[in-house]
Amino acid sequence: MMSSPPKYFFLFFGSLFSLSTFLHYKTSFSTHSPHSAPKNKSVHLLILSSWRSGSSFLGQIFNHHNDVFYIFEPGHSLWFKFRNEGSELLHFPIRDLLRSLFTCDVSPLHQYLPGGGKRVSELLFYAESRALCTPPTCSAFKLINGYDHLKCTHSCMNTSLDQMGETCKTYSHVVMKTIRILDLSILLPLFRDPALDLRILHLVRDPRAIAFSRLFCDFQLDNKILLKNEGNTNIATSRVMQKICKAQVDINRVAKVAEVLQGRYMAIRHEDLSNEPLKNIKKMYNFAGLHLTKDLEQWVYNVTHKEVADTKEIMTFSRDSSKVPYKWRNAMDFHLVEEIQQNCKEAMDLFGYKPAKSQIEQKNLTLDLVNKEWSLK
Ligand SMILES: *[C@@H]1O[C@H](CO)[C@@H](O)[C@H](O)[C@H]1NC(C)=O
Ligand SMILES: *[C@@H]1O[C@H](CO)[C@@H](O)[C@H](O)[C@H]1NC(C)=O
Ligand SMILES: *[C@@H]1O[C@H](CO)[C@@H](O)[C@H](O)[C@H]1NC(C)=O
Ligand SMILES: *[C@@H]1O[C@H](CO)[C@@H](O)[C@H](O)[C@H]1NC(C)=O
Repeated sequence: MMSSPPKYFFLFFGSLFSLSTFLHYKTSFSTHSPHSAPKNKSVHLLILSSWRSGSSFLGQIFNHHNDVFYIFEPGHSLWFKFRNEGSELLHFPIRDLLRSLFTCDVSPLHQYLPGGGKRVSELLFYAESRALCTPPTCSAFKLINGYDHLKCTHSCMNTSLDQMGETCKTYSHVVMKTIRILDLSILLPLFRDPALDLRILHLVRDPRAIAFSRLFCDFQLDNKILLKNEGNTNIATSRVMQKICKAQVDINRVAKVAEVLQGRYMAIRHEDLSNEPLKNIKKMYNFAGLHLTKDLEQWVYNVTHKEVADTKEIMTFSRDSSKVPYKWRNAMDFHLVEEIQQNCKEAMDLFGYKPAKSQIEQKNLTLDLVNKEWSLK
C-alpha cells in the first residue's frame, strides 16, 4: 500500500541519515561533510549509466520506495527534439533540465515535450514513475492497491505537469536515471549549487554483454547523436561501444579527482547487483539515505526470482536475475567479442572484466570473466 510521504519525514530522516552515513560511509566521506546542508533539503540522486546496462531495473529499485519521486530518462525528449545535434552539445540543456527537475521545476519540459507539456503522458515513460501513478498526482488510483504501471498508462495520462511539479515537492528524494550524460565534469556546477544535494550512482556493465544486448535493439537515432562529432558515417557496434566505454572510464576518473564529488559518488556493477541484489541494494539505499523496509525487501526478492513472461513490460527484470548477465557468452560472435575487448580495454580493466582469449574460453562458463574481488578503490 503506497501513501504519500509524511511531511515530518525530513526531520526524522536527517538524523537517521547522519547515523547511517556515519556507520557505513565513514571512510569514504571527506572531512567537509556534504551533509552540513540544511536538513530539510531533499536528496537528489542521479543514476548514470549507458544503454542496456540494467539502469531501468536499478531505477525501479528506487522508484518503489515511498519517499522517492522518480523520473525515468528525462533527457529522452530533449534528444528527440534536437536529433540533429551531437551528445556533447546536448549535455548542456540536459544538465539544465536535470537541475530544474531535481528542484521540482517542470517548466523546461513545456519546451521539450511534443505537445507543449500539457499532460504527463507526453513524457514517454511517465508510467514508470510510481509517484506519477499514485495519489495525490493521480487520484484514479485511490481505490487500487499499490502501483500498477500498465493501468497507470491509461488512467493517469491527463495529469498536468504543474501537478507533477507540486507533488514532487512533497518528496524527500528525487531520483532520476539517464544514459545521456557521457561526461561527469559537465555536472560539476550542480555539486556547488546550494539548492541541490546531489549524489551520483554510476552503473556499469560488462561491455561485451552491453554490445550483445544492443544487437537486438534499434538505437539508430541515439547512435547518430552519440557519434555525430566522430563523423557518423560508420555506425558499427564496436565504434558505439568504444565511445560508451570511454565515457564510463572518464566518468569514473572525474569522480576520483573532483573534490566536490568526494562521498557523493558510488559505482556499482550490473553483475554484482544481479548476483547479490539485496546486499547491494542496502549499500545503495545507504548511499542515498533511504531506509529499506521489509515490504521492499520482499518486493526485491520477488522481482529478482520470479519468471515473468509479460513482454509488454519494458522492465523485464522479473526473472532469475543471477542468470541474466551472461547470455553473450554462448551466443555472441567471437570476432565481435574480440573487437569489443580491444575497443573497451581500459573500461574492462578498470571495472574488473577479464578478456576471453579464445572462443573456447568465451564459451567455458566455469571460467569466470568477471573479477569477483573487484573494487574501485
Ligand atoms: C522545513 O520545511 C518545513 C515545511 O516545508 C518548514 O515549515 C520548516 O520551517 C523547515 N525547517 C527548516 C529548518 O528549514
Ligand atoms: C484524457 O483526455 C482525453 C482528451 O482530452 C480524453 O479523451 C480521455 O478520456 C482522458 N482520459 C482519462 C483517463 O481521463
Ligand atoms: C511477493 O510475492 C508473493 C507471492 O507471489 C506475494 O504474495 C507478495 O504479495 C509479493 N510481495 C510484494 C511486496 O511484492
Ligand atoms: C574451463 O575453465 C576451467 C577454469 O579455468 C578449466 O579448469 C577447464 O579446464 C576449462 N574447460 C575447458 C573445456 O577448457
